Amino acid sequence: MNAPLPVEVLKQHLIDPEICIRCNTCEETCPVDAITHDANNYVVDPDVCNGCMACVPPCPTGSIDNWRLVVRAEAYTVQEQFGWEELPQEKSLPLAAGASSAAVDAAGASQVASAGMAAMPAPPVTPPTPGATVPPWSAAHPYVNLYTHKTPITATVVGNYRVTGADTESDIHHIVLDFGEQLFPVLEGQSIGILPPGTDAQGRPHHARQYSLASPRDGERAGYNNLSLTVKRVTQDHGGAAAHGVCSNYLCDLARNDTVQVIGPFGHTFLMPNHPRANLIMICTGTGSAPMRAMTERSRRLLGAADVGKLMLFFGARTERELPYFGPLMKLPRDFIDINLALSREPGQPKRYVQDLIRERAEPVRQLLSDRNTCIYVCGLKGMEVGVLDALRDVVVQSGEDWSILHDALRREGRLHFETY
Ligand code: A2P
Repeated sequence: MNAPLPVEVLKQHLIDPEICIRCNTCEETCPVDAITHDANNYVVDPDVCNGCMACVPPCPTGSIDNWRLVVRAEAYTVQEQFGWEELPQEKSLPLAAGASSAAVDAAGASQVASAGMAAMPAPPVTPPTPGATVPPWSAAHPYVNLYTHKTPITATVVGNYRVTGADTESDIHHIVLDFGEQLFPVLEGQSIGILPPGTDAQGRPHHARQYSLASPRDGERAGYNNLSLTVKRVTQDHGGAAAHGVCSNYLCDLARNDTVQVIGPFGHTFLMPNHPRANLIMICTGTGSAPMRAMTERSRRLLGAADVGKLMLFFGARTERELPYFGPLMKLPRDFIDINLALSREPGQPKRYVQDLIRERAEPVRQLLSDRNTCIYVCGLKGMEVGVLDALRDVVVQSGEDWSILHDALRREGRLHFETY
């Protein structure tokens, strides 16, 4: 039974600042722009949120899924939420508000979707994100949030080396962290948070920065309790102005035996299928190659023991020397993985992006798309999202099929995943 909440009571949507890793996914996903942030917190505007829940499934940590019953006129303001270090306790409502806790319990989950909606338009029916908000059906079950800002785990650096040409602008490092005897179970496609030491301009400890795993579930070295990250040293902002990336510089400068504070793991949807003959189309730029490396290596280790499907990789970088892991990638057998490199600034070659190569390889892409065992992963620059979707649509439309039907199925079945930044 879902009794309605009294009109003066709001089930207010809040984000837990202690778990949130400030990845911006919720703000990007919200179809009504109810989510915003400052240097401290991501927050939900109670005057705008219509409780449509679109932001909940994509959140990698679950910090988004917090609710407090409040008297509507006393809802926590955006300014209040910016100042929080933790969520407030649930307040008991005045009887005049008419909401006994029993009535509130009876209101049930469906009230969440209607709680903030007085005089609000109906939630949109169009999907807010181009990708799936569920994992592939056969994905292994991930652990998330085992370690938090308050309870981080200490890892030891056992490797740190550059994986791009020394003479190039792109300083990208492969960093291996070991967890010793401590439990840190992960899956390919998941990420972790790193807590850089020191404080921000306001004197507060730095927030965690999120990095995708570059190694498979059984370790960077099979059977070892370690994992790897692919980290680009940030020396410029998106506009090209000089900027010092706090965490990327910290990580790229680490030496063997240094220790690092880690939280996570995070992510429950960008996961690889676990069933025989599952195919992977992997599309990435730069450090977006991390999860593709993890999934490729997982598949490679399964060769011989399991029926591994087809792997097709589209990898964009400025030049060969700026493409992380170029050497090891080129050593992989061509009958195991179909590798397509899109180089945008290689001297003497035309500028190419991953979406150009998807169009050039339309026939094998179309064949894979027509197989329900195929999952697609896109990771890297935000800008490529639209380009990749357009290219996939062109491939499908050219063969006389309906892209919107396939796109819906890919989303519904957890077969199309984006992680862009
Ligand atoms: P570009 O040479 O135009 O910058 P980065 O090295 O900055 O991480 O970028 C990785 C690769 O992604 C580069 O080749 C870059 O090309 C390319 N790229 C930039 N914008 C897009 C986009 N909108 N779609 C696809 N690839 C892109």
